[in-house]
Amino acid sequence: MKQFKLNNGVLMPAFGLGTFRVEPGESAYETVLSALKMGYRHIDTAIMYGNESDVGKAIRDSLIPREEIFVTSKIAKHYLGDKSLIMKALDESLERLNIGYIDLMLIHWPNQDDAMNQLVWSVLESYYEAKKFRAIGVSNFQKHHLTALLKNVKIKPQVNQVECHPLLNQTALHKFLVEHDIQMTSYGPFAKGKVFEGQTFEALTEIAKDYGATVSQVIIAWGLMRNIVMIPKSVHEERLLENFKGQELVLSASDIEKINGLNRGSRLYTDPDNNTIYL
Ligand SMILES: NC(=O)c1ccc[n+]([C@@H]2O[C@H](COP(=O)([O-])OP(=O)(O)OC[C@H]3O[C@@H](n4cnc5c(N)ncnc54)[C@H](OP(=O)(O)O)[C@@H]3O)[C@@H](O)[C@H]2O)c1
Repeated sequence: MKQFKLNNGVLMPAFGLGTFRVEPGESAYETVLSALKMGYRHIDTAIMYGNESDVGKAIRDSLIPREEIFVTSKIAKHYLGDKSLIMKALDESLERLNIGYIDLMLIHWPNQDDAMNQLVWSVLESYYEAKKFRAIGVSNFQKHHLTALLKNVKIKPQVNQVECHPLLNQTALHKFLVEHDIQMTSYGPFAKGKVFEGQTFEALTEIAKDYGATVSQVIIAWGLMRNIVMIPKSVHEERLLENFKGQELVLSASDIEKINGLNRGSRLYTDPDNNTIYL
C-alpha cells in the first residue's frame, strides 16, 4: 500500500476508509472490521461522527497489530477557548477509541478567530509531545487560516484535510500545502454523488472504460497520483472492495489532465469561511 511521509517522518497510508455518516453501533463496527479484513489500514473518524468507540472496537477485534493501522480523528469545537474542555474532549476521544494512541488528530473546522485556532493547536502540540498523537493537523483550513497559524506554531501541521474531488480540485491550495510540506487529504471524493451524474460522469466513464475500471476507481487513482490521501466512505462490501482496488490503477498524465479539466470550483460541503458552527 502506498504511503506518504509526513513532515515529521511518520508514514501515512495514502488510501483509507472514511466513516462520516456511518451509523454508530453495529454498522460502524461491521464496516470497519470488514474493511480491515479486506486490507484497509487507515480509518478516518471524528468526535463529531459519534462512532469512535465502534471504530476502536473493530480495530481491537481485528487482531491486526496496532502499529499497522493508521487512525485519524478530529476535534470539532473550540469550547470558547477553555483549555480544560479541549483537553477533556481529546481525552474522551482517546478513551473511546481505546487503541493506545491516535495516529493523527485534526482541528476539524477553523474558527474565524485565529487566536482560537492557535489555542486549540497549542493543546494538540502538548498531546503530540506527550506521544498521545503521532501526528497533528488541521481540516477545512483555507490558506489564510494556515498562514495565520503557521506564524506561531512550535510544531507545523502535518496534514490539512479538505473537500477535494473532480468538481473542486483544489489546485491552488494543494500547491500551497506542497510548498509548506503539509500533506493534503481529500474528503468527499465523489462530490456527494455529483461525479455519477451528467457530463462529469460521461467524461469519467470514457476514461474509466479505457482501463476496464469504474468511475470511483478513476477518481481514487487521480487523487493518489496527485499525491493526495484518499478516504472514500462506503458501508457496502462490494464498493469497499471496488474502491480498495482503485489504488492499483495507474492513469496516464493526459487522463489526469482531462480530470483536472473537469474542475468547476463547485463546493458541495460547508464553506469553511461561513461555517455555522462558529458564526
Ligand atoms: N474533515 C471534514 O470536514 C470531512 C467532511 C466530510 C467527509 N470527511 C471524511 O471524508 C470521508 C469521505 O467523504 P464522504 O463520506 O462525505 O463522501 P464520499 O466518500 O465522497 O462518498 C460517500 C458516498 O458515496 C457512496 N459510494 C462509495 N463508494 C462508491 C462506489 N464505489 N460507487 C458508487 N457510490 C459509492 C457511498 O454510499 P454507500 O456508503 O451506501 O456505499 C456514500 O453515499 C468521510 O467519510 C469522512 O471520513 C471529512
